[in-house]
Amino acid sequence: MSELPGELDAPWESVVALRASGVSLILGLPDDALPFVIHWGADLGVLDDKALRELAAHALPPLATNGVDTSVIASVLPENSRGWTGTTGLAGHRSGRAWSTKFVPVSVDVADRADQGGSVTVHAVDVDADLSLSVSIDLLPSGLVRLSAGLTNAGDSPYTLDGLQLAMPVPTRADLLFDLAGRWGKEKVPQWRAFTVGTHLREGRHGRTGADAATILTAGTPDLDFGQGEAWGLHVAFSGNHRTLAERAFSGERLLFGGELLLPGEIQLAPGETYSTPQTFAAYGAGLDEVAARFHTYLRARPSHPRTARPVVMNVWEAVYFDHDLTRILALADAAQQVGVERFVLDDGWFGSRRDDTSGLGDWVIAEDVWGGGRFRALVDGVKQRGMQFGLWFEPEMVNVASELAASHPEWLLQVPGRLPIDFRHQQVLDLSHPGAFAHVERQIVSLVREYGIDYIKWDHNRDLMDAGSTRTGRAGVHEQTLATYRLLDAIRAACPGLEIESCSSGGARVDLEILNHTDRVWASDCIDARERQQIQRWTAQLLPPEVVGSHVGAERAHTTRRHFDLDFRAATALFGHFGIEWDLTAASAEERARLAEWVAYYKTVRTLLHTGSTVRRTLESGDLWLHGVVDPDHARALYSLTLRERHITWPAGRVQLPGLDPAREYRVTVAGPGADATYDPRIHPSWYRTGIVLTGSALGEVGVHVPALDPDTAVLLDVEALT
Ligand code: GLA
Repeated sequence: MSELPGELDAPWESVVALRASGVSLILGLPDDALPFVIHWGADLGVLDDKALRELAAHALPPLATNGVDTSVIASVLPENSRGWTGTTGLAGHRSGRAWSTKFVPVSVDVADRADQGGSVTVHAVDVDADLSLSVSIDLLPSGLVRLSAGLTNAGDSPYTLDGLQLAMPVPTRADLLFDLAGRWGKEKVPQWRAFTVGTHLREGRHGRTGADAATILTAGTPDLDFGQGEAWGLHVAFSGNHRTLAERAFSGERLLFGGELLLPGEIQLAPGETYSTPQTFAAYGAGLDEVAARFHTYLRARPSHPRTARPVVMNVWEAVYFDHDLTRILALADAAQQVGVERFVLDDGWFGSRRDDTSGLGDWVIAEDVWGGGRFRALVDGVKQRGMQFGLWFEPEMVNVASELAASHPEWLLQVPGRLPIDFRHQQVLDLSHPGAFAHVERQIVSLVREYGIDYIKWDHNRDLMDAGSTRTGRAGVHEQTLATYRLLDAIRAACPGLEIESCSSGGARVDLEILNHTDRVWASDCIDARERQQIQRWTAQLLPPEVVGSHVGAERAHTTRRHFDLDFRAATALFGHFGIEWDLTAASAEERARLAEWVAYYKTVRTLLHTGSTVRRTLESGDLWLHGVVDPDHARALYSLTLRERHITWPAGRVQLPGLDPAREYRVTVAGPGADATYDPRIHPSWYRTGIVLTGSALGEVGVHVPALDPDTAVLLDVEALT
């Protein structure tokens, strides 16, 4: 941290420069205002004091004609009192008073970890508003910036908090915006727009992360793509209501904001009480792959990140739906065992009166009529005897009104006084902020996990929260519910060591970094149509590495879209995730099962590479040809998949460059996977098809190789192994 001499006329007294993994973060730390960002982007190298002082001293814009009489610069929590007329970081009041703040720091803690980043924590107060604020800005070793804040009511009357969001500026050259949208069964659809004056606001009001979540709201240079351009993205790590927005002010600033979305009156801070924001992550990258790599590196560095080989899963949902029967499901277990499955998951329909989706949710006891008389025990034992782990579906936050739970505790359902929320998939929401409700569901789940030695829970959440008030407080309850869900997940994991949990929410509606602090993988979508899955996984990868993204081989005819796909395409698609099967194998032919077993065996040989390497993506042939690859950390091996989205206007495709390799090493490229057994045909295959081709990493990256001609909705795998 450099002290700035007063004669430099800077409005702050110190500046701190942090560096990690190719990112520099330079913060101005005024002694009378909140910190602000001087630079967030590419690494500027080690700056000496003089260079840093110069940079800091000239960071202020000139005064604008007919404007505020001092230079205005937005802090990480922009305040109207500082001349900022855009969106403010804090919104709240004390019965109409204390509605505008002017925070002044009382302490600043800086920890500089040299080239491993560092952190700045500022404690500030507004003595007139009787509020105190702490803001933490942490440049992590991955190059991600993690932001959070806490607001404490230091007064003696309640303070109503309407919103607290933190902001990061992006440079003037960030002329476009990119984020994700989507719906049930079609999550993670990219959308692009110009970064024009005004606000691009993405709100999540579903009481869960949402199938349409922005995921990472990104500002970029006009040339932004996977491997080029520059991107500055923001992700709010929260599974309840949240908002991200990109704002281009009339005065030229471009800011990204992120925080929780609070419902009216949801947070009333009592005297002495503190509200903590979710963590918000800011990622800079030279291209979208580099942004993704920062999130992947961050996640993989967590002690809790799954490190054991990700087992091949069989989930029975699309095989049997609610048609549960011991003999039938054991037959599926036989088929699963034969193809090499390692984890067998019984989905919805095993409990209470749950014979369809209209009743039973909330009663987490074995259904007597279907699984009683020792049949459930026989299933679990049967699965384990076949060498597989046993997994079970729960939807712990949900209740059918037709359930014993709802009948005995109607006050445990989220609601506004006098009316239950509108039904959604015939269900209501259990208010986990009621200690009794929390304890009830925790007890039921833990006792089943212990009694049956359950290895894995698929934790579902199949409705939006609407009218979600708590009878406990009479206020909106989404904030409390979200935090209680995290506590429940943690309590169950603490009580059941070794248990793994999947976050599912009507497919991919609860995919965010905070839910991953409490679970081990996500279910990306209920749609396992391989063509759709290519897109869903391509963009889920913007946040998550493949080992935490469940990806299953479905039936030949996709249940959600009714489209037909070859097994090789379905399996090559599922390969680039946490591989599994969701298909009635008892109805599959012997040839299909044999081919599937080959794919399972192949997945087992490449999963270490896939689950530790860096993801690279390219879009070729005007969007018709997609490349997806994983390069191992030593650049010794890579696996690429090419798939044709649409028949292209010209053919065959030109040479395809393989990114991410070490330019100086020599590699052998071969066609890989069970699909590589096609007989050589010079009209389809390149000259090297039978022998492989040896080229340097630079030749592969710059010149590329000819690839087999592809039909739409087929894929080819290229294995690249270093020889030197
Ligand atoms: C949700 C999930 C599915 C399945 C069903 C069961 O839709 O996303 O995978 O578990 O619930 O009802």
